[in-house]
Amino acid sequence: MKQSLTHSTVLVTGGAGFIGSNLCETLLAQDNQVVCLDNFSTGKRENILPLLASKNFRLIEGDIRNFEHCQQAVEGVEYVLHQAALGSVNRSVKDPQTTNEVNITGFLNVLQAAKNEKVRRFVYAASSSTYGNHPALPKTEDKIGKPLSPYAITKYVNELYAQVFSDLYGIETIGLRYFNVFGKRQQPNGEYAAVIPKFISALIQQKQPTINGDGEQTRDFTYIANVLQANQLAALTTNPAAINTVYNIAYGEATSLNQLFRQIKQHLLPYNASIQNTQPHYGQPRIGDIHHSLASIDKAKKLLGYAPTHNLQQGLAEAMSWYWDLCN
Ligand SMILES: NC(=O)c1ccc[n+]([C@@H]2O[C@H](COP(=O)([O-])OP(=O)(O)OC[C@H]3O[C@@H](n4cnc5c(N)ncnc54)[C@H](O)[C@@H]3O)[C@@H](O)[C@H]2O)c1
Repeated sequence: MKQSLTHSTVLVTGGAGFIGSNLCETLLAQDNQVVCLDNFSTGKRENILPLLASKNFRLIEGDIRNFEHCQQAVEGVEYVLHQAALGSVNRSVKDPQTTNEVNITGFLNVLQAAKNEKVRRFVYAASSSTYGNHPALPKTEDKIGKPLSPYAITKYVNELYAQVFSDLYGIETIGLRYFNVFGKRQQPNGEYAAVIPKFISALIQQKQPTINGDGEQTRDFTYIANVLQANQLAALTTNPAAINTVYNIAYGEATSLNQLFRQIKQHLLPYNASIQNTQPHYGQPRIGDIHHSLASIDKAKKLLGYAPTHNLQQGLAEAMSWYWDLCN
């Protein structure tokens, strides 16, 4: 089966964000026509600056809460890779309404526009937060618990809408439940930044990173290359059993925040040996956070042929020089 999208027209919503800009870059390199819809609320112009010169790249500066913008973006598109959303559990706890408007109303707008345009496939960013308080480890797609944050609710509602739309209207959808994605262009600044870029940038600046809680909470850190692969496999699969469902996208290994901190330090030592002496500061646990997170990736392996290429160490090794340049 084909593993990479080529010679296709693809809409990437949220294409100026971390995951979206990596998708746009990869798809352009593979000779696709790429449409990027973004309102730059959390995405950055510099993420897509080098892409703007390509005749195969089209930027639509617009908002997924506006249905007309979504209609305009899907025109002539074969595949939608929907990434636009307000991420961060913490942000959703502080501002559930805006998270709801973007992540649910916005999602519905893109889905409806994609359905009207009769796109071949609608692949969307779902989330491991959907597992909520379910205690089972590793997480398998069919066992979810009670949501622990407004963000988790929105991501679960996305799955429900996708399923109902495929049942009612026949649009083919696939949801990818990402687990703690990291890699180049994930921003280290701001209160809603993710843990890996936060730790890296603090260490580069020889500041003490804050670990919320005791640091023994675990995550299944997933390198961006694995996410790029999963999106393309999801767009391309022709297996009827693989369509209109959701998948865990992760590496399938648990790492505690204390272990993560030590590993990042190791990767930074060649850049600056004095980083060895920096220790973390332990702060309050964050509300809405889950304690342990580890994915079973068996379903994606079996039905999509997903084969992650980078574990945490390999991903950190690849991403570190980008962070070093960013922070220096
Ligand atoms: N990064 C992770 O670890 C992770 C984990 C699980 C799920 N996800 C999901 O993956 C997707 C991409 O996440 P990311 O980490 O790249 O985040 P990001 O914030 O870097 O990217 C999101 C992009 O969406 C755009 N956007 C936000 N609201 C919009 C709106 N109303 N209209 C148009 N564009 C809008 C932003 O400007 C940004 O460019 C999101 O749906 C997120 O919920 C990410």
